[in-house]
Amino acid sequence: MIGTDLAQAAQLLNAGKIVAIPTETVYGLAANGLDPQAVARIFAAKNRPSFDPLILHLPNFEAAEQYCHGIPPLANRLAVQFSPGPLTFILRKRPLVPDLVTAGHNTVGIRIPQHPLTLALLQQLDFPLAAPSANPFGYISPTTAKHVQDQLGSSIDYILDGGACAVGLESTIIDLSGTTPKVLRLGGLSLEALEEAAGQALSVQTSSSNPKAPGMLIRHYAPRKLLLLQKNTTVPTGIKEKDVALLRFQTVHPDFPAAQQYVLSESGNFTEAAARLFSVLRQLDALKHHCILAEELPEQGLGRAINDRLRRAAAGSIHEA
Ligand code: TXA
Ligand code: MG
Repeated sequence: MIGTDLAQAAQLLNAGKIVAIPTETVYGLAANGLDPQAVARIFAAKNRPSFDPLILHLPNFEAAEQYCHGIPPLANRLAVQFSPGPLTFILRKRPLVPDLVTAGHNTVGIRIPQHPLTLALLQQLDFPLAAPSANPFGYISPTTAKHVQDQLGSSIDYILDGGACAVGLESTIIDLSGTTPKVLRLGGLSLEALEEAAGQALSVQTSSSNPKAPGMLIRHYAPRKLLLLQKNTTVPTGIKEKDVALLRFQTVHPDFPAAQQYVLSESGNFTEAAARLFSVLRQLDALKHHCILAEELPEQGLGRAINDRLRRAAAGSIHEA
C-alpha cells in the first residue's frame, strides 16, 4: 500500500516489518537496523546477496556516536555541512550493530537523509533504519513511490510516498574508518563539493568487483536491455536505427529521428540530469527499441556520478556486430 501515514509506517517498523521510505537520493527499503530478523526481510525482498552491507539511516549525526566509535574530526566537519544530505559515512561500528547489516565488516555506513517525512519517521523510532535502495538487486534505483510499487509492491508492507526524489542519484560514500579518507561511491554530492569541504584532494576508489561495496559491482543499476555508452552516440554497425533509442545529455542528435531521443536536461544542468536519470532509464527500458545508446556527460560535478551509473549499466551489455 502507498500512503503518507507516518504512524502506520512506524507501527509496521516497530513490528519488524519492512517499509519503503523516501529520501532525497532514491527510495530506500527500510527495517529496524538493530533487528537481524527484520533486516533479513530486506535481503529477501530485494533478492540481494548477504555479502552486501546496508547503510544505517539516523535522524541526526550526533546519534552516530551510539553505533560507531573513533569518529574522526573530518567526519564531524563534513557532517556539519552535509548532514542531512546525500553523503554516507563509513565509520567503525560498535558491537550492537548486527553483522547482517555490515556483512561482517567492522565498519558501518551512516547517513542522515534529507527528506522531511523520513526525518520525522526516524525521530519517532528508537532504532536506526537499515535501508538499501528499494530496487531488485542490480536494477535501476527507484526515484518515485510508483517505481517501488511496480517492482517490489507485493513484498513490502507499506510504501511511504514522499514524491519524486530531488537528487535522484544514490549518496556519495566516503570511507573514514581508516587512516586516509577514500571515496567508495560517486553520488549525489559532487566530488568537488566534498573535496572543498574536506580541504583536501580525496582518493576515489570506486573499483569494480570489490565486494566491500557491491553497489560498485561492474554491472549494476542496469536496465534489462542492451545499453551502450558513447561520446558521440553513433549507431554501431549491425544495429538498425529503428531499434535504438538515444539518451542524450542536453541536445538531440541532428541526424537521428527526434521521436527516438530522450534529453536529460535541455539547459545542460547536471542537477536536473541527475534527478531525471533513473526515471528516464526506466522509460527507455519499457520501450520497444532493443537498444539504448547513451551519451557520456562531461566528467565534472554530478556528471561524474551519472557517467559512473551509465558505465555500470552498460557493463556486460555485449554487442557483437
Ligand atoms: O542514497 C543512498 O545511499 C540510498 C538511500 C536509500 O539512502 N541507499 C543506497 O543503499 O544506495 P545501497 O545499499 O543500495 O547502497 C549502499 C552501498 C552498497 O554498495 C554497499 O556495499 C555500500 O554502500 N556499503 C554499505 N556499508 C558499507 C561498509 N561498511 N563498507 C563499505 N561499503 C559499504
Ligand atoms: Mg542500491
